Amino acid sequence: MSKCQDQGARNVLVGGGTGFIGSHLFLKGLPKDTVAVVNLAGQNVMDFKRRWTAGFRQNVYNSRINTTASLAKSINKAQNKPSVFVAISGVGAYKPDKLKEYTEESTCEEFDFFSKLCKKWEAAASLNNESNSHCRIVTIRSGVVLGGPVGDGSQYMPWIHVEDLTNLIMFAIENPKVKGILNGVAPKTLHLEKALNRPAIFPLPTVVLDILLSKERAIMITDGQKVLPKRTQSVGFKYKYPDIESACRGIVNSS
Ligand SMILES: NC(=O)c1ccc[n+]([C@@H]2O[C@H](COP(=O)([O-])OP(=O)(O)OC[C@H]3O[C@@H](n4cnc5c(N)ncnc54)[C@H](OP(=O)(O)O)[C@@H]3O)[C@@H](O)[C@H]2O)c1
Repeated sequence: MSKCQDQGARNVLVGGGTGFIGSHLFLKGLPKDTVAVVNLAGQNVMDFKRRWTAGFRQNVYNSRINTTASLAKSINKAQNKPSVFVAISGVGAYKPDKLKEYTEESTCEEFDFFSKLCKKWEAAASLNNESNSHCRIVTIRSGVVLGGPVGDGSQYMPWIHVEDLTNLIMFAIENPKVKGILNGVAPKTLHLEKALNRPAIFPLPTVVLDILLSKERAIMITDGQKVLPKRTQSVGFKYKYPDIESACRGIVNSS
C-alpha cells in the first residue's frame, strides 16, 4: 500500500503502489481535490522462479481478490467516502479467440483460472457496496503493459503503453461521469504475424512455454484475444500511444 497527498492534503490510497504500474502512477502527480482509492496489488503471475503450484495459485488469487475486497470494505465503512475506487483487472476475462472482437459490452465466459479470477476480482470491488451512489467504481481490464512477442505469432496481443494506462487511471479518477468497465488496451491491437509481415519465429515456442510455465499460466502469453477499447474511447479518453510504432518510439526516447 502507498499513500500520497495533493496540495490540499487529500489522500489517494494506492494498493500495489510499489509495483511496475503503481510506481509510474506516482510520477503523474495527484488529482486536484479528489479522494481516491486505486488497487494495483497482485502477486506477479509471471514470476518464472515460482512453480505453478496450488499454493502459488492461491497467492495469485488472494493477493488480488482479498486486497480488493478489503479496500471495498474500508470504503463502505468510511464516514467520508472517497469519490472513486479504481480497480485493475485483466483482458484474461475474455476467452482467447482468433476471430472474435471483444468490447466492454461483450459477455465474459468463465472458462479457465484467469477468467474466473478476473470475474471474482471485479466483483470484489463492489462487494457489499452500499455506497454506490457516493463512490464510483471503475474497473480497468488491462492488456499486457508493453509485452514482447512469444508463441507462434498468430495470436492477438492486447497491449497498452504504461503511460497511457496511468493516464487512464488518472482520467477515471478525475472524471465524475466515468464508471464501470473500461478496457485498458491500445486501440490498435497487435497481431504479431501481421505486424512482422511474415510468420513469426520466436525463441520460445508454445510447447516449451507450456512445459516451463504450465499450460494454465502460459495461455496468458501464447493465446490472445482481440480486445477493443470501445467504451474507453467513447467516454473521451485520448491515447498518447495508440499504435505499437508510436509506443516503441516513446520507449526509445525515454530510455
Ligand atoms: N503489468 C501488466 O502487464 C499487467 C496487465 C494486466 C493487469 N495487470 C495487473 O495490474 C496489477 C499491477 O501490475 P504491475 O505490473 O504493477 O505488478 P508488479 O510490478 O508485480 O507489482 C505488484 C504490486 O502488488 C504488490 N503485491 C505483490 N504480491 C502481493 C501479495 N501477495 N499481496 C499483496 N500485494 C502484493 C507488490 O507489492 P511489493 O512490492 O510489496 O511486493 C506491488 O506493489 C497486478 O494486479 C496485475 O495483475 C498488470
